[in-house]
Amino acid sequence: MKITIVGAGAVGASCAEYIAIKDFVSEVVLLDIKEGYAEGKAMDLMQTASLNNFDTKIIGSTNDYSKTANSDICVITSGIPRKPGMSREELIGINAGIVKTVSSNLLEHSPDTILIVVSNPMDSMTYLVHKTTTLPKNRIIGMGGVLDSARFKYRLAEALDVPTKEVDGMVIGGHSDKGMVPLISKATRNGEKVSGLLSAERLEQVKQDTKVGGATLTGLLGTSAWYAPGAAVSALAEAIICDQKKIFPCSSFLNGEFGLNDICIGVPVILGKNGIEEIVEIELDPSDLDHLKESVEGVRKTNNLLDI
Ligand code: 2OP
Repeated sequence: MKITIVGAGAVGASCAEYIAIKDFVSEVVLLDIKEGYAEGKAMDLMQTASLNNFDTKIIGSTNDYSKTANSDICVITSGIPRKPGMSREELIGINAGIVKTVSSNLLEHSPDTILIVVSNPMDSMTYLVHKTTTLPKNRIIGMGGVLDSARFKYRLAEALDVPTKEVDGMVIGGHSDKGMVPLISKATRNGEKVSGLLSAERLEQVKQDTKVGGATLTGLLGTSAWYAPGAAVSALAEAIICDQKKIFPCSSFLNGEFGLNDICIGVPVILGKNGIEEIVEIELDPSDLDHLKESVEGVRKTNNLLDI
């Protein structure tokens, strides 16, 4: 099996590293437009193979899409990342053109691939791919909610002072500081609702810290995060390649689900070999459903800036 990652920056290279270490595909192609950059990152990563004990072959390519032919999954991370103080939505002017070109180049060589969109503003970039390619909707997946849910679980574990593996929680809605919907009422620690373990004030703090999780890191790092985004992509790719039929919150095109239409937004989906196998219409509290609908309106505003 083969995965292509476009964009050999920090996020793309982290995607390649985690996918390689998990060793569930035979080949990863890392592509970038900067001369020699992807080749360098691929070689550096391959020199960890004996240390990290993986067989995955990682090759780099400077903008030669023929090397990406017949990829089972293609990940689009290319575009500019946020700077401190920027919103993801401010990136649309530059990133929309990049994502449109990249997705067209990828599909020319891998017409049956499954696309995972990471570039921001991610929900709108995912929508753009739906509107500018002929890929069926189950083969276009926006990665945002998995990352936001990982940050949600990090904050819950921090508040409860327990190992992260003991907590569970999901974030749906837009991958944006204002649009995220952490599902507090469904979050648990060892199966017990966290609403019975933490005060309302502390849970509100967890919610707010989750929503600005990306911006917090951009402020500390001077650029967008890359380890957790890379790990999130590797989890989605593994679920698809290994046909795990696992539930993840992903930005998906809705045709009536949750009463929503003509929008890409983070909702629970089952991922397997066909990409989005099913959109899972979980029962939502009225307030969470209202927040989801508000989030949709925010994404629609950004979508309206797209030239499609
Ligand atoms: C983040 O939240 C890059 O949007 C990504 O870190």
